[in-house]
Amino acid sequence: MKMITCCSFKGGSGKTTALMGLCSAFAANGKTVALFEADDNRPLTTWMENAVESGTWDERCSVFIADELSLLEEAYARAEAGGFDYALADTHGGSSELNNTIIASSEFLLVPTMLTPLDIDEALSTYRYIVELLVAEKLHAHTAVLRQRVPVGRTTASQHAAAELLNALPQFNVPMYERDAFAAMKKRGMLHLTHSSMKSKPGLRLMARNYETALSEIAELCAFVTKALES
Ligand SMILES: Nc1ncnc2c1ncn2[C@@H]1O[C@H](COP(=O)(O)OP(=O)(O)OP(=O)(O)O)[C@@H](O)[C@H]1O
Ligand SMILES: [Mg+2]
Repeated sequence: MKMITCCSFKGGSGKTTALMGLCSAFAANGKTVALFEADDNRPLTTWMENAVESGTWDERCSVFIADELSLLEEAYARAEAGGFDYALADTHGGSSELNNTIIASSEFLLVPTMLTPLDIDEALSTYRYIVELLVAEKLHAHTAVLRQRVPVGRTTASQHAAAELLNALPQFNVPMYERDAFAAMKKRGMLHLTHSSMKSKPGLRLMARNYETALSEIAELCAFVTKALES
C-alpha cells in the first residue's frame, strides 16, 4: 500500500478537494483506496455519506477515521491487511504530531496552493517543513507542489508572479483549475460516477462535457503521482 498525503499549513488551500479528485481517479482506474480522515472536521466522512446517498460512492474506497495517533495506527494496519492499493491521507492545517507522523509515513506528499502571495508563502513554509522533517528522519518521499484553484481564463499579473515563486520547487505541470465539477464533489460524490450518471440524462449533456475535462485533468495528476511512485 502506498500512502499519499495532501498537506499545507494554510487552511482552505484545496487539500481535501485535491484528495477527493485523486481518489476518484484511482477508483476509475480500478484501484482500491483507503481514505485516512486525519482532519477532525471529517470532510471525507461527509463526502462519503453524500455520495452513498446519491449513488456515487465507489465501493473500491473506504474511509478510516485517523484523527488521533492511535486511530491512525489502527487505520494503517486495517487498510494494509485489507490489501488496499493506496492510502490517501487528508490532514488538518498546521503542524502537529499527527501530521508529522503522517508526513513521515507517506511515499508522496502533495502541497496544494492557490496563487496568492499569502498562499504561496504558506506553501513554501510547508514545503520547507516537510523537507526538514524528512531529512531529520532520514526518509525519502516524493514531493510536489500542486497549483490549486487556478482560474480557467487568463491569470492576473499577480497570480503569474506568485506562480513564478514556485518554480524552484518540484511541481505537477498541470494545475488543478477552478471548476464547478471539483467544488461540487463534496455534495455530488465521486467525479467519475457523477459523470456516468449524467451521461444518461440528455439535459445534463453540457455539464457532462465539463466533467470530462475535469476528469481528464485529474487523471493526469493521478498518472503523474503513479509514475513517480513506480520509479
Ligand atoms: N479546483 C477547485 N475548483 C473549485 N473549487 C475548489 C477547488 N479546490 C477547492 N475548491 C473549494 O475551495 C474550498 C476549500 O477547499 P478544501 O476544503 O479542499 O480546502 P482544504 O485545504 O481541505 O481546507 P481545510 O484547511 O479547511 O481542510 C472548498 O469550498 C472547495 O470546494
Ligand atoms: Mg480539508
